[in-house]
Amino acid sequence: EKGGFEHFMLKEIFEQPGVMRDVMRGRVRLEENRVRLGGIEDYLDTIRGAERIVICACGTSWHAGLIGEYLIEEFARIPVEVDYASEFRYRNPIIGRGDVVIVISQSGETADTLAALRLAMQKGATVIGICNVVGSTIARETHCGMYTHAGPEIGVASTKAFTAQVIVLYLLALALSEGRTLPDHEIGLYLRELAAVPEKVERILAQNDVVMEIAQAYHQSRNCLYLGRGFNFPVALEGALKLKEISYIHAEGYPAAEMKHGPIALIDEDMPVVFIATRDTTYTKILSNIEEVRSRKGHVIVIASDGDEDIRRLADHVIHIPSAAGPVTPLLNVIPLQMLSYHIATLRGCNVDRPRNLAKSVTVE
Ligand code: F6R
Repeated sequence: EKGGFEHFMLKEIFEQPGVMRDVMRGRVRLEENRVRLGGIEDYLDTIRGAERIVICACGTSWHAGLIGEYLIEEFARIPVEVDYASEFRYRNPIIGRGDVVIVISQSGETADTLAALRLAMQKGATVIGICNVVGSTIARETHCGMYTHAGPEIGVASTKAFTAQVIVLYLLALALSEGRTLPDHEIGLYLRELAAVPEKVERILAQNDVVMEIAQAYHQSRNCLYLGRGFNFPVALEGALKLKEISYIHAEGYPAAEMKHGPIALIDEDMPVVFIATRDTTYTKILSNIEEVRSRKGHVIVIASDGDEDIRRLADHVIHIPSAAGPVTPLLNVIPLQMLSYHIATLRGCNVDRPRNLAKSVTVE
């Protein structure tokens, strides 16, 4: 059942190229430069006309929501807020007709997300679901939705469901841009970038040995910091969550520029710092953040773009990632972080598929 892999988590990490192709199937229309999202077709105009979109979710799904915020605002220019479902439901949120609420849930059964969805419905919002489990409560109670089609996710730590959620949000953001904020040829360009992702993920998975070496160097650490910017700030949060939940190492994710507002005080020779520094608009800014860590003797692990050999000068370890357009980079950069947490956790003898104190589906608040 684990398809020759030692754990479900590893199997699910390696399934991602195939899952990504499944998520895109029928939805990415390259020859027409169009996206087709059958599940929300009847609501597309309502969503396009929304004054704002509120995304509610928990945990890893909330991280996908944050990437969704960056994507929808970038492509479709509709203001987006992202809220923890548990916070949204208990603070008398300002929401009504004209608002669109997107709930994201792998299981489709998370208690807080379900309650947020019911509250949004009561207040008259249009509610869209992004779920993995077909026929789940959240999928059934929303006005409309899109399935992530990632297949059953058994490992408690979410991996393939996360990348599938990000793809669905990417497609939604492009669908909302059609005829409004992006010309067709640009939509086509972004669709081709997305279509090229699965093969690039395969190339990243092939670097398992490089990641393993890094895991060997740091599996005894007690803390770890993850830094990224822009589309990859949520990836830093997700990398940190993956590490803490299965290896029990304390980890934090931050937007890289926030480092000097606090976390920099933690940096010493015992602190590994994982930087997401693939080439995009904030690349040079990240380089100076790396220098700051080095000058305080922190250990630097960098996720960098293929061909960026210079960066070795600044880093203890480098994982190279195929080049890609900024908006798809989260789908690539998260992969080595999933692998790193998996290897660190197994080296520490942790039960990666069933980490202590965690449930796959959190049906109590
Ligand atoms: C982390 C993880 C959790 C879930 C969260 C929400 O790896 O799996 O943080 O993402 O409990 O679950 P769903 O998406 O089922 O609502």
